[in-house]
Amino acid sequence: MSDIAKLQIGDNSYEFPLVKGTENEVAINIKTLRGATDGVITIDPGFKNTGSCESAITFLDGEKGILRYRGYSIEELAEKADFLEVAYALIFGDLPSKEQLEKFHSDIKENSVVDDDVKKILDAFPKSAHPMGVLSSLTSALTAFNPGSVNVDSEEDMYKSVVKIMGKFPVLVAWTMRKKQGLPLNYGSKSLGYVENILKMMFEQPNEDYVMSPILKDALDKLLILHADHEQNCSTSTVRIVGSSHAGLFASLSAGISALWGPLHGGANQAVLEMLEAIKEDGGDTKKYMAKAKDKNDPFRLMGFGHRVYKNFDPRAKIIKLAADEVLKDLGIVDPILEIARGLEQEALNDPYFVDRKLYPNVDFYSGIIYRAMGIPVEMFTVMFALGRLPGWIAQWKEMRLNKEPIGRPRQIYTGENHRNFKSIEKR
Ligand code: ACO
Repeated sequence: MSDIAKLQIGDNSYEFPLVKGTENEVAINIKTLRGATDGVITIDPGFKNTGSCESAITFLDGEKGILRYRGYSIEELAEKADFLEVAYALIFGDLPSKEQLEKFHSDIKENSVVDDDVKKILDAFPKSAHPMGVLSSLTSALTAFNPGSVNVDSEEDMYKSVVKIMGKFPVLVAWTMRKKQGLPLNYGSKSLGYVENILKMMFEQPNEDYVMSPILKDALDKLLILHADHEQNCSTSTVRIVGSSHAGLFASLSAGISALWGPLHGGANQAVLEMLEAIKEDGGDTKKYMAKAKDKNDPFRLMGFGHRVYKNFDPRAKIIKLAADEVLKDLGIVDPILEIARGLEQEALNDPYFVDRKLYPNVDFYSGIIYRAMGIPVEMFTVMFALGRLPGWIAQWKEMRLNKEPIGRPRQIYTGENHRNFKSIEKR
């Protein structure tokens, strides 16, 4: 293949260089397009064909169903690694040595205390507030308690910000849930692992010693790893674009949390469970809901199905489906919702509407079933997603700043009124 793309506009032709990735992905570098063509731009709503950056963090092949972090396959990481190792690899480029991991973990623990005044902010929220709104606000509030922007040219400064947010974020997550449940706010323990501490902080009851379940710990480790990064999705692009104005890390993360909240993105895990519940309440008639999903006059969509980039299968969904089976079996839970999910999946996989549009179960189709078995309230599901995505957001923010990317500022094609004269209010 030549490494030049040719563009013809009217009688003029232009040449643009191709950019090739390490997995042979190809892009046309149009950096000079507007200047060379006297103002022509490209338009691509939803960025379906537009790459926003070059990135060395995550590789994804939606046609083949491949997902790798820093070159390691998601299947191997989910089976053999723990979440903190994966977080380290995403943020710093490779899996840590034993010493690096121990230091990372100990620095995180040292930075896990949240200013006590943050509790006053949490107190001011109504119990009915959605946990994603609360988490986004508390993450933003951290900027006020940790003033001073990160000096991205200093490795030490960058590292300090990373361990601070990795330490404090799980505390905010746990407090968000505990506030809703009216439980006292707590902290983890120095003797526990990162994921163990998340479970302890979330589930510890007053006057009871928390007993760690290895089944829940393994399941959570796996879920967090599977959600840890997914290249330039909606929330990650938000984190990068907010950070591109040189806004701080915590402020950028807070914006990412808001982007993740929507039901077309991370909010789908809550929406899936609510949908499955509704189908159960309605007598479990999956065919009726399949018909609704296919009816163009009905806004209903089969939540947990379809993906912008996976057009074969979502490799994370495969792992999560197996994990859901195992967790429910290990915990001795029979969940009728799982049966409904399996039924919907089977029908969709054999239905021309879904097959033709390449709609397969995504990461969120089965994750809620595991979260529910773990005792996590439905409204907290997207918060759990955010907890998993944190290292990916940090890694992407760091990469964007270190690559000295320019401020993100798309253009547009204006379709409004041409110039018109102002009319005084009496004449309108
Ligand atoms: N149920 C029914 N039909 C669907 C679904 C669905 N879940 N998803 C897509 N379609 C149909 C669309 O109606 C459209 O049909 P048409 O070609 O006849 O008009 C076609 O499939 C293509 O859909 P788009 O919305 O154009 O695809 P896009 O790539 O923009 O959207 C998305 C992807 C947002 C994930 C979509 O599939 C969806 O809404 N899924 C349900 C929500 C969901 O599960 N989101 C989680 C995604 S994973 C994540 O963010 C972690």
